[in-house]
Amino acid sequence: MTFQPVSTFFIARLKPIVFVLALLPLLWMVWDAWHGGLGANPVEAITHRTGSWGLRFLLLTLAITPFRRLTGWSRILRVRRMLGLYAFFYVSIHFAIWLILDHFFDWQEIVTDIIKRPYITVGFVAFVLLVPLAITSTDAMIRRLGRRWRQLHQAVYLIAVLGVLHFLWLVKADWREPVVYGLVLIGLLTLRTPAMVARMERWRNGVFAN
Ligand code: HEM
Repeated sequence: MTFQPVSTFFIARLKPIVFVLALLPLLWMVWDAWHGGLGANPVEAITHRTGSWGLRFLLLTLAITPFRRLTGWSRILRVRRMLGLYAFFYVSIHFAIWLILDHFFDWQEIVTDIIKRPYITVGFVAFVLLVPLAITSTDAMIRRLGRRWRQLHQAVYLIAVLGVLHFLWLVKADWREPVVYGLVLIGLLTLRTPAMVARMERWRNGVFAN
């Protein structure tokens, strides 16, 4: 028995389906902006939404390998790069809004903000680390960098930790949402440990044997 989550129709179109689904948060934001649905402070609303979606896509990207290990369903790997690039896409909008709409390219104010506010420092470091991963995500770069590509892309774990830390640092009262992201991240990192990898393989062989 092999794991077959959805019909062959969807499996054959997995990439375009995920592409369209991942665009929905953006379309939803555009819709809300058009119809006055972003509240009294639209810049703040977009900053929050793009930050949240950036973090969600980062966590989704990290969830792909454990999911494949649990199910043996290798086709899911085809959408991992796309999900990572969507994380970069939403975080880039998030960063651009802060740079352009919050600070209007006032470089002195920008540098002061990065140095003085710890949650901005952490977010900024995460974004800077994300840039080389996005740049080296092409097939040509994967071939060119070889083993070094894998080493470089290990930074995604650190980026996710910094993303959660950034969120934890900026909340003033309601910790629930960043704590949930933190717990999901701890779970995903735990699934990467050799002991858990071996357990997942054993579990899969037991359930999907033959
Ligand atoms: C990997 C990089 C990053 C991730 C994953 C991330 C994620 C987030 C998340 C989840 C939020 C909270 C959203 C909410 O309240 O629902 C947030 C808020 C925010 N982020 Fe980021 N962020 C990143 C990078 C940055 C960078 C580079 C900057 C600017 C230099 C930045 C500036 C902000 C600001 C100004 C807020 C709103 C703070 C407030 O409510 O007062 N973030 N971010």
